[in-house]
Amino acid sequence: MRKIDIFDTTLRDGEQSAGINLNTAEKLEIARQLEKFGATIIEAGFPASSPGDFEAVQRIANIVKKSTVTGLARAMKSDIETSWEALRGAEQPHLHVFLATSPIHMEYKLQKTPDQVVEIAVEAVKYARKFFPQVQWSAEDAFRSDREYLVRIINQVIAAGASVINIPDTVGYATPQEYGALFKFLKENVTGIDKVKLSAHCHDDLGFAVANSIAAIENGADQVEGTINGIGERAGNAALEEIAVALHIRKDYYGLETGINLHEIKRTSQLVSQLTGVVIQPNKAIVGKNAFAHESGIHQDGYLKNRQTYEIITPELIGDKTEPLALGKHSGRHAFSDRAISMGFDLSAEKLNEAFVEFKKLADRKKEITEDDLFVLFTDQQIQNNDVPVYKFKDVQVQYATANVPSATVTAVNPDGETVTATATGSGSVEAIFNTLELLVEGEVHILDYRVTSIGKGRDALGEAVVNLSINGEVSIGRDVAQDVLGASAKAYFNAINRQLVKKQSKTKVTVI
Ligand code: KIV
Ligand code: ZN
Repeated sequence: MRKIDIFDTTLRDGEQSAGINLNTAEKLEIARQLEKFGATIIEAGFPASSPGDFEAVQRIANIVKKSTVTGLARAMKSDIETSWEALRGAEQPHLHVFLATSPIHMEYKLQKTPDQVVEIAVEAVKYARKFFPQVQWSAEDAFRSDREYLVRIINQVIAAGASVINIPDTVGYATPQEYGALFKFLKENVTGIDKVKLSAHCHDDLGFAVANSIAAIENGADQVEGTINGIGERAGNAALEEIAVALHIRKDYYGLETGINLHEIKRTSQLVSQLTGVVIQPNKAIVGKNAFAHESGIHQDGYLKNRQTYEIITPELIGDKTEPLALGKHSGRHAFSDRAISMGFDLSAEKLNEAFVEFKKLADRKKEITEDDLFVLFTDQQIQNNDVPVYKFKDVQVQYATANVPSATVTAVNPDGETVTATATGSGSVEAIFNTLELLVEGEVHILDYRVTSIGKGRDALGEAVVNLSINGEVSIGRDVAQDVLGASAKAYFNAINRQLVKKQSKTKVTVI
């Protein structure tokens, strides 16, 4: 069966979305999960863009072995050299070099003539091949490029040594028919096209990203690029879980396989949402909360008589488990540690201890601990990063009565290690908390968005708070999960502030390993 390679760019194109600031520990955690998910290639970042990105790419390249690890580089010697330093420890060093080819990008952004762009692309690919056995070249904004010009430049970068040619629809403008036709045209007109892999990279501005990626596959693409949950710049990228499940469920029609471990989809999607703070819309295909919910009486009746009346995908296929957990208030350390291992976590004794303390606190207050709860708990421990001094939340007290002005008092430890307390009022409890926090943290903060959702079901479900704010003009998303949404809100606020502190620090510190 023909195999389609899955190129995951969650950590590069996905991380480029406004407000997402993953630290190195979080990127590593996502990369490990992407390896379990079965991504053929993981684009771990853009090494020349910041020391933080460099460090993350380097560590991922050294740890991930089953997936190929790549990094993005502009068509510049310095970017290629920096990328080599970051990727040389990888099992199969792979580089992704890009250069724009559309008239609008060449004239206004690059300020180069089409001939100069060909020359720069060829030089970059030749130079990259001095270091990397595998080089992918992307024609940024390929869909809006002149087709004859695309043929000319692709012919030359193939001759220069590129083994993968990526044809992005950078601005999400193509329709499925047009995008498919472009692949057919290139297949028929580029010399030596059968010796290289053709790749599709779609953005979702018109909501066509997944359909366009599949149209490309039908017309000769052997690789599709995208992100988990479809996160990415503007409207995002093609959602990889949707492509993988579509090709699986309609194998009868497409006759293709991806090598994706479909049972890891739910876990991967949850992890990316949890660490990026980007909430999944409830009706999102495959991974939305309601993707398997049958609400109307007629549907429920049919479903109970035969699941297939209304269900083409089972939750089990994507690893959405419903069986209750055998863990509870009386479970011991041993059972808890076994569960962490069986869920794929590799926690140090100290972190496991801390997770166990949190678990006991939760079990005292919550009737049923679900796998989702444990997942949040273990992940939170795994990504704790004690390298950078940050704000540590201690306590929040809220005074609320319908007839009175709500007030909040928050105690925290600031990055200098001092315990600080402040009190403020607001027109609601959450506003009172945020006004108090504004007094505690240094810098000008504006709240851009705030959401609370529940994790799992039932009245004692954990509450997840996501705060999107700007601090000194820099956007940052923070999240936290707690049984009380007010506590979760205060901690999510600190989480957003702390992410900026870590990001600032990672711009000044490079660890070469
Ligand atoms: O959308 C795009 O064109 C990109 C390239 C860098 C591949 O992300
Ligand atoms: Zn892109």
